[in-house]
Amino acid sequence: MTDPQLWWYVARASGLVAWAAMTGSVVWGVLLATRVLRSIDNPAWLQDLHRWLGGTALIMAGLHMLSLMLDTWTHFSPTEVLVPFAAGYRPLPIAMGIVAFYLLVAVYGSTLLRPRMPQRFWKALHYGSYASAILVSFHAGWSGSDVGSWGYRLAAFTLLGLTTVAVLVRVLTAAAPLPPPPRRHAAPPRPMTVTATYPLAREVLGVDLSMQDGTELPIWTPGAHVTLYLPGGLTRCYSLCGDPADRSRYRIAVHRAGSSRGGSTWLHANAAAGAILDVSGPDNHFTLEPAPEYIFVAGGIGITPIRAMIEALPAHRRWRLVYIGRSRATMAFSGELQQRWPEHVSVYARDETGVRPDLARILDGTTAAVYCCGPASMTEELAALVPAPRLHIERFTPISQQLDGPRRAFEVTCTRSRTQVHVSAHQSLLDALESAHLPVYSSCREGICGACQLRVLAGHPEHLDSVVGDEDKDRADIIYPCVSRSRTSSLTLDL
Ligand code: FES
Repeated sequence: MTDPQLWWYVARASGLVAWAAMTGSVVWGVLLATRVLRSIDNPAWLQDLHRWLGGTALIMAGLHMLSLMLDTWTHFSPTEVLVPFAAGYRPLPIAMGIVAFYLLVAVYGSTLLRPRMPQRFWKALHYGSYASAILVSFHAGWSGSDVGSWGYRLAAFTLLGLTTVAVLVRVLTAAAPLPPPPRRHAAPPRPMTVTATYPLAREVLGVDLSMQDGTELPIWTPGAHVTLYLPGGLTRCYSLCGDPADRSRYRIAVHRAGSSRGGSTWLHANAAAGAILDVSGPDNHFTLEPAPEYIFVAGGIGITPIRAMIEALPAHRRWRLVYIGRSRATMAFSGELQQRWPEHVSVYARDETGVRPDLARILDGTTAAVYCCGPASMTEELAALVPAPRLHIERFTPISQQLDGPRRAFEVTCTRSRTQVHVSAHQSLLDALESAHLPVYSSCREGICGACQLRVLAGHPEHLDSVVGDEDKDRADIIYPCVSRSRTSSLTLDL
């Protein structure tokens, strides 16, 4: 015979699960919004878990309310379960639970409709999740029939504590000014050993690098690159394209370009197992940010950071790769990618198609985040097609930028080192800082890699780099001194 209190048990269990899932969703949401664990987290996974927990909380809360209506022992009518203050039993805490449920519906619904609503509106609605989590805690702690049991109290304190910490972290990080960029020191690059080389495609050499002393390598995230210091003063940046979880080696792919300035030619001729190379990084200015859908566009060797991003995506993420090259024989990873994800990957080899694919048609109507790494012609075409907030670009070459007027000298005050530096009209800011023996970490020295980033405390920079958009730099008060200068007669730097 069915237990007459079955629905009562279901109501209690589903209520507890809804509360735990709600708390988990808030905690994961705060981790996602603040990225306080940026060095070890993965935004795509954080977002998936955040959403899954939110959906679970909603379903369990619905089941909790339904089972209360079906339960013949406690006798809650639909009106008492759905209308605040209609219940005769503990009307205030019950009303809190009902309002929390409606807030949860609004928050989750707005997330599903996010692509169709203004970001500000979605964000404002999303703050309702904090109120919902707090109301749920009061509802459960005040009206729950298990309040007297020690197990329930322990769970309640844990969940309420987690919610409180999450809300505090969110409030404090929102109120705090943007964190200063990580301090970079001109530490000497570390020697690394080439452990293997192998052809990845015609003119593309795969190179595996490990620490010379066999120790673990620093963690990296998809989109990151390392800088190689080659003979003759050459420095070259290469995207990492291996497995981020493999701490024993970095994998890069080196394309010997016809336009090589010497770096790739040297590596093709000299990189062999056992060779020692000076390497710095990894650095990442092409990070994979959370989005419901992605379109990746890779041109030639631009596939390397994109491949690492694709590998990091959760299995059910909506994505598509448009991979363009001269011929399949020159396109690293093209066969492997198409074999593993045939429904996601489109390879356009110009010796087969004759023309480049119509990117305007491919991107027509999409709201996906677009990540592109490729030659200037490709990145410029995409910049004209995709709104800046949805477009993420890594360039092979810098955008050509013009100064607004003649090159002028300016003065720089470096607050930490208490040093004044004069930058002449014919000198880069980075050169002037280095001449004054101020250590600035740098890599490409062309305004592409972002390694030399410094924080501006006063003055108005003239941005000439190709790392990120000017608005982002001004909002974060940063400058890339290898190419950028000053609009004002003086700049104050946090250096
Ligand atoms: S050194 Fe690469 S952006 Fe300045």
